[in-house]
Parts: sequence; C-alpha cells; structure tokens
Amino acid sequence: MESTNSPDSKSSTIVVAGATGDLGGRIARSLLEKGANVRVLVRRDSDAAKVNALRSSGAIIFEVDYHNNADLTKACEGATCVVSALSGLHYVMVGIQSLLLNAAVAAGVPRFIPSDFAIDFTKLPYGNNRNLDLRKEFRGRLDKTPIAATSIHNGMFADLLTGQAPIVLFPLKRVMYYGNADQLLDFTTIQNTADFTAAAALDPTTPRDLRIAGDVLSARGLKDAATEATGEKFSLFRVGGLGLFNTIIKVTKALTPGSQEVFPAWQGMQYMRDMFSGLPKLEPLDKDRYPEVKWTSVAEVLAMLKGD
Ligand SMILES: NC(=O)c1ccc[n+]([C@@H]2O[C@H](COP(=O)([O-])OP(=O)(O)OC[C@H]3O[C@@H](n4cnc5c(N)ncnc54)[C@H](OP(=O)(O)O)[C@@H]3O)[C@@H](O)[C@H]2O)c1
Repeated sequence: MESTNSPDSKSSTIVVAGATGDLGGRIARSLLEKGANVRVLVRRDSDAAKVNALRSSGAIIFEVDYHNNADLTKACEGATCVVSALSGLHYVMVGIQSLLLNAAVAAGVPRFIPSDFAIDFTKLPYGNNRNLDLRKEFRGRLDKTPIAATSIHNGMFADLLTGQAPIVLFPLKRVMYYGNADQLLDFTTIQNTADFTAAAALDPTTPRDLRIAGDVLSARGLKDAATEATGEKFSLFRVGGLGLFNTIIKVTKALTPGSQEVFPAWQGMQYMRDMFSGLPKLEPLDKDRYPEVKWTSVAEVLAMLKGD
C-alpha cells in the first residue's frame, strides 16, 4: 500500500531517542529534511560533538536523565511520535526503552516506534537469538500500553556485509554461507532504514509492523552482486549446514562467557544463522509505501565498500 506523509508534517513534533547513534542521527536528519520539528534526547555524557552537530542541523536538544520520569515526560509533551533508536542489552532495550515508553504514554503521545530494526523476530522462538529476545520482551510491554506502536523490520543492514557480518569476503572473492545457497535474505542500508522510519514517524496511519528490504538476495545472488560491483569473479563458499553453524555458535559463545558486548561475534553469527534458516524472512514487503525513499541495491553498496 502506498501512503503519503500527513499534510501537516511541518507542524509534527517527533522525539528521537538515540540520535547520537548512527541510525538515530540519520533518522533525526531525515525528519528535519522533511520539515518536522525534531527533539532529540541526549544524556549528560553524550558525545558533545555529536550533540552540537544535531543542534546545528536544526534539532532541539533535550538533555535528560532517563530515570527522571518528570523530565522525560516533559520532553515528550506535545509530540506526535516518539522514535527510539537506542542500542544496548537488556538494561537499555527493555529497561531504558520502558522508561521512555512510560513517559510517552504519560505525556499523551499517540505513537511510538521502538528500536527494533531487525529481521522479523516475531517469527522466531525465544532462546534463539539473545538481542532479538530483548526486542520480543519489549514488544510484549509495548503492546500492553494504549500507545499505537509501529515496528520497522529491515532485515540486515547491507552496509555490514563486508565487515561486521562477513558474508562477502572481498580479499578471497568468495561469498560465505551456510545451508541453502538459494535461501532469500533481506538487506537494507542504514540510510534507507532511516529515511523510511522518518516517513513512518510522520505518517499517522501506520500499522503495527512495517517490513522493508532495499534488496532481497540469496547467497547466489550476493555472489552475482559482488561480481557486478567489483568486475571480478566471485564464487560461493558453503561452510556447512545450519547444524554445523549452531555448533560453531555454541563453541564461540562458550569461549566468551558473560560477554556484555552488544554485538559479540557469536551474536552476529546467531543473526546470520537465523537469516540463512529463512524463518525471519520479511513478507510482505512495504517498500512502496513512501515513494520518496529511493532504495539502494546490495550491488551499489558493495561498489561503495570495495574501495575501503
Ligand atoms: N538490522 C541490522 O543489521 C542492525 C545492525 C546494527 C544495529 N541495528 C539496530 O539499529 C538500532 C540503532 O543502532 P545504532 O548502531 O545506530 O546504535 P549506536 O550507534 O550504538 O547508538 C546507540 C544510541 O543509544 C544510546 N544509548 C546507549 N545506551 C544508552 C543508555 N543507557 N541510556 C540512554 N541512551 C543510550 C546512545 O546514546 P549516547 O550517545 O548518549 O551513548 C546512542 O545514541 C538498534 O536497534 C540496533 O540493534 C540493526
């Protein structure tokens, strides 16, 4: 379904939490470009250079203590939507996001977009993927409140394909995968995710879930995209089946007990394992909802990354 932003988007006030981060900063800037009033919530310890850059872009800065409910509620008053792009483990994704949610509800904000931005974790069982379980837990809390929530599911950030999610291996000219080379996978750039989220924040008619993918490719498709992007012939490298991948994840996790990193190697592996399983495949896609979003293909991303 196609939708347009509300005609009064210029008078909409959107609160963005996590705007000093990568995705949140891009969401805030995309909202400002669309003419919205943007309030960003920052902490006393947030990076001053990032806060100043947001201020210079036109955002209104609210320095808050997330544990001070009165201040947080005041920062949300009059807003049409609260967007969370926070990142962290349980303390942040369930704890701090719940404080933000409570403040949004208390302030009478009609809409909330949680920091989900992932594969479709609603299709995954608990216990599968640590970081996605946190989203499931917060979703349960969100759905018990009267606020209208919209989750944006974007698959994997395409920008990570050669680094944090090492699937396209430039030096080896290989595309590494587990399981089935024809399993379709969802990829969206961070910028496309931000632009779509900004449009959704300004759209009062969004449903509970919106699913996007700038590109949908199998491992075989990734091989062709890498060949197209670099002009060099890539081939497939099947490490093994999903059972082997599960074992590798268990061993890696056992070697790094109690890891409090947000994205330790084994968590990235859980994410890839889930994608290769096909379970959290996004469907149907809502990518035509905001025609102003111009989608970037994986081949375009790889062409940009090859010089890095
Ligand atoms: N689908 C994918 O492939 C993919 C990949 C990466 C990330 N993501 C998701 O995208 C979302 C945003 O991630 P990102 O990479 O943009 O994050 P990021 O750059 O690490 O930024 C995190 C933000 O959260 C804030 N924050 C962290 N701890 C906080 C706390 N205790 N209290 C208040 N604020 C806190 C930070 O504020 P300060 O500046 O004050 O520290 C910062 O603004 C997350 O949901 C993340 O999981 C998805």
